[in-house]
Amino acid sequence: MPQTLTIRQALFFEGIGKTEARVLLSHLLKKETAYLLAHDTETLDATSAQLYISYVKRCLKGEPVAYIIGQKECYGLMFRVTPDVLIPRPDTETLIEAALAVIPSDQPCRVLDLGTGSGVVAIAIAHHRPNADVFAADVSEAALEVARQNAKNLLGDVSRFHVVLSDWFSAFPEPLFSRSFDVIVSNPPYIKEGDAHLTETGLPYEPHAALVSGKQGLDAITHLCARAPNYLKPRGYFMLEQGYDQADAVANLMTLNGLTDIEHKKDLSGIRRVTVARRFGNFNRQARTAQK
Ligand SMILES: C[S@@+](CC[C@H](N)C(=O)[O-])C[C@H]1O[C@@H](n2cnc3c(N)ncnc32)[C@H](O)[C@@H]1O
Repeated sequence: MPQTLTIRQALFFEGIGKTEARVLLSHLLKKETAYLLAHDTETLDATSAQLYISYVKRCLKGEPVAYIIGQKECYGLMFRVTPDVLIPRPDTETLIEAALAVIPSDQPCRVLDLGTGSGVVAIAIAHHRPNADVFAADVSEAALEVARQNAKNLLGDVSRFHVVLSDWFSAFPEPLFSRSFDVIVSNPPYIKEGDAHLTETGLPYEPHAALVSGKQGLDAITHLCARAPNYLKPRGYFMLEQGYDQADAVANLMTLNGLTDIEHKKDLSGIRRVTVARRFGNFNRQARTAQK
C-alpha cells in the first residue's frame, strides 16, 4: 500500500467501490464530497493516510462502511451504529413513513416500537411527532444503549421517549398495558435460518438475533401478530416490516389474529415491504372464536 496518498488516489483506491471510498474519506477528513472532488490533488497527511488505509483494509474484508465510521443516515437523521445494532436500511424508511402517515402531529399518541435496535424507527417518529409518547423496546441491552445515545443526540428532550428492555411484550404486562397503544410498529428479524443471504457481504458482521427468526423467518412475526392486538386501542394500527416474499404470509397472520383493514406498502424497489393493519373497534377475539 502507498505511503503518500492524494485525495484522488484515495477516491480511486483499488478494490473498494467509489461510494464507499467517498463515505470513508468524507468521514475521515470531515469534508463534503464536493470538497474532495474540487481538491483531489491535495495530499493526505501521514496520520490520515494511515487511517484511511486501515479503513480500506477493513472494508476489503467485508466490514460494512457504517460500522467502520460508526454512523448511518436514515430518514434525514444521522444515527450512531455499533456492531450491537442492525445498520438502518433504506427499506425501513417505508415503515417510518407508514407510521408518520397515521400519527397525528397535533394530538397525543402512544407508540410502541418493538425491536428498536439503534432506535431508528422510534427516534424518527419522535423527531417528527413531538406530541407522541414513544416506547422503544429491545431484548438487547447493548442495542438499547445505542438507542439511548441516538435519542439524546437527535431529540434533545427525551421526556417523551422511553427506552425499555423487553423480550417482545414481556415488559408490558397485561392487563396493565392492554389496549394502551395507538400504534405498534416493528422491523423484527425475518430472515430464514441458513438463508443464503446471510453469507452476503456485511451481514455476517451484524447481530444474528437482529436478522434471523426460525426456519421460515416468521417466528418473531407470528408471535407479534398473535400478541399485538391485545395491546392496541380500538382502531389502533399495527405495522410490520417484512421480507421481500413474506407480505402474503404476514397478511394471513394478521387476519387470523382478528386484525382488519390490511394494506401493503411498497419500498423504493416496488417490493411489498410493510404490512399495516388495524384493530377492530371493540373486537373481542375470544368471543369471536367461541361463536365459531
Ligand atoms: C431487524 S432488527 C431492527 C432494528 C431497528 N428497528 C431497525 O429497523 O433498524 C431487529 C431487532 O429486534 C431485536 N430483537 C430480536 N429478538 C427480540 C426479542 N425477543 N424481543 C425484543 N427485541 C428483539 C434485535 O435485537 C434487533 O434490534
